[in-house]
Amino acid sequence: MMWRPVQAGRTGKNMDSREDDDDLAAKVKPLRIGYSSWISKGYIVAALALVLLTLLSGVLTTDLSHSSGVPVVLKYVRAFKSEMLDLKSEVELKEPDSGSLQFSNPSNASKQAGCHKDSARLKVFMYDLPSEFHYGMISEFTPKKNQIWPQNVSDIPKYPGGLYQQHSPEYWLISDLVTSDMPDRSTPCTVFRVKRWQDAGVILIPFFASLSYNKYSRAPLLRGKKLDRNQELQLNLISFLSSQPAWRASEGSNHVVVIHHPNAMLHTREKFRSVMFVVADFGRYGAEVANMAKDVVAPYKHVIPNFDEDVDAALSFKSRTTLLFFQGAIARKEGGIIRQQLYELLGEEPNIIFSNGTTSNAGIRSATAGMRQSKFCLHLAGDTPSSNRLFDAVASHCVPLIISNEIELPFEDVLNYSEFSLFVNSSDALRKGFVTDLLSNVGEKEWTRMHDRLRQVERHFQYQLPAQIGDAVHMTWEAIARKVPALTLARNKQRRYARSQFISQKIAT
Ligand SMILES: *[C@@H]1O[C@H](CO)[C@@H](O)[C@H](O)[C@H]1NC(C)=O
Ligand SMILES: *[C@@H]1O[C@H](CO)[C@@H](O)[C@H](O)[C@H]1NC(C)=O
Ligand SMILES: *[C@@H]1O[C@H](CO)[C@@H](O)[C@H](O)[C@H]1NC(C)=O
Ligand SMILES: *[C@@H]1O[C@H](CO)[C@@H](O)[C@H](O)[C@H]1NC(C)=O
Ligand SMILES: *[C@@H]1O[C@H](CO)[C@@H](O)[C@H](O)[C@H]1NC(C)=O
Repeated sequence: MMWRPVQAGRTGKNMDSREDDDDLAAKVKPLRIGYSSWISKGYIVAALALVLLTLLSGVLTTDLSHSSGVPVVLKYVRAFKSEMLDLKSEVELKEPDSGSLQFSNPSNASKQAGCHKDSARLKVFMYDLPSEFHYGMISEFTPKKNQIWPQNVSDIPKYPGGLYQQHSPEYWLISDLVTSDMPDRSTPCTVFRVKRWQDAGVILIPFFASLSYNKYSRAPLLRGKKLDRNQELQLNLISFLSSQPAWRASEGSNHVVVIHHPNAMLHTREKFRSVMFVVADFGRYGAEVANMAKDVVAPYKHVIPNFDEDVDAALSFKSRTTLLFFQGAIARKEGGIIRQQLYELLGEEPNIIFSNGTTSNAGIRSATAGMRQSKFCLHLAGDTPSSNRLFDAVASHCVPLIISNEIELPFEDVLNYSEFSLFVNSSDALRKGFVTDLLSNVGEKEWTRMHDRLRQVERHFQYQLPAQIGDAVHMTWEAIARKVPALTLARNKQRRYARSQFISQKIAT
């Protein structure tokens, strides 16, 4: 993490003493490499199996009911083919000027103003957890007695400012969902909140886990207390869920919870292992608790402002006089040894700025200026594989140079990061001259192509309220929706024998 959360009223000095907050808790170093690739292969096989199954079941049922089987089969095959083509055109985002992603079947209604149940891609049920689990953590939200949710769109309180923001996806997603059925909602939506869990595709657990970690886990324990408020909320959440029919029916496997801060729900996340997580990365998870097959990676909210004036790529190329920029803690404890080594290798190079940055406001100002003046911005693994820095680089239209072998990137199933970033293997990066040679050989034409692409994709990393089609809120919901069929498949498969067991038990008694 580059930017540490600041608490209101804390001074920069205190904040620095919090420098290691991400390291406080025990770390899980998973055996991830082999296992996770195995899992993702399994996922692909499962998805193919699902497609085949759908095809076959279509063929079988129509064969049974009608004699005119053949044309129907053709119809299925055609539909299947055109789906594959759609998928392909989604992945091949070749032309830099084509710009926006094509989302699967955006129905006509979703283009109309407002959010409609029938046009939404996914129906979501959300538990009515007391407000202390979500908006109640925000001091400007003043609910009336027994009030749980904001009443209307304008009633949504602002998320606490400053560096808390980087792990705020919980707030943007839940605010989008909670407003989806409000009468004053005038913008289109991907998800619609339904009142009955039986009608939902997924069930959302509305816990602001990252805010709870940031706000409550640092305060000294009150006298006589064994647990801090963050821990108490998590235990209360578990007991709440275990009494819910929706949870008991599925053991959580059709549930979603946003755990963006790497330390959020650190000690209870194991109990949620069947739930789909929305994470920043998998650095502090065992592969059996969180993985690419089940979970979704969401972007950090960038803290550096968008560089809206930066419209002319040729001008931008000329005015960016720094070749490579990095600002952040140079000595990191774990996984971050490479920072020190790279600093020794690159720190003295002309045109390269490698600065031992801080997270103060002055630090943000200097990072903003530095990223806007640089052609490439370094994203290095730190304590965890991901950080805010990548998304700050995108907002600054500074081409990311990603040196982080374990990183998982948001929406990489629909976005081709190679169009707007460079990746270097950590072991290559430590070869003398490798990085400087690579970067100085990127010509103006190639750089401006990546710059153009950055300007097109930056909206996919933009969290906002109201959300817009194609922004980070929408993209994350879409990513969740793409996981649902595979989860359903896994759940159905797991329960194949449940019924026969039930019957034979009845026989036995
Ligand atoms: C959607 O729009 C297309 C053309 O814009 C039209 O042909 C089609 O009938 C519309 N579908 C619905 C369900 O309104
Ligand atoms: C929205 O809700 C707030 C608080 O409940 C209320 O004061 C305000 O009048 C409402 N606004 C609209 C447009 O309904
Ligand atoms: C960076 O700053 C930290 C803390 O201010 C200091 O301990 C460390 O030596 C510095 N590293 C370099 C390479 O300047
Ligand atoms: C992704 O983009 C890179 C750079 O433009 C290109 O070489 C590569 O073929 C693209 N990958 C796919 C799957 O289109
Ligand atoms: C990175 O380099 C290491 C060591 O040379 C190698 O084992 C690994 O396969 C490389 N990874 C990629 C993605 O090229």
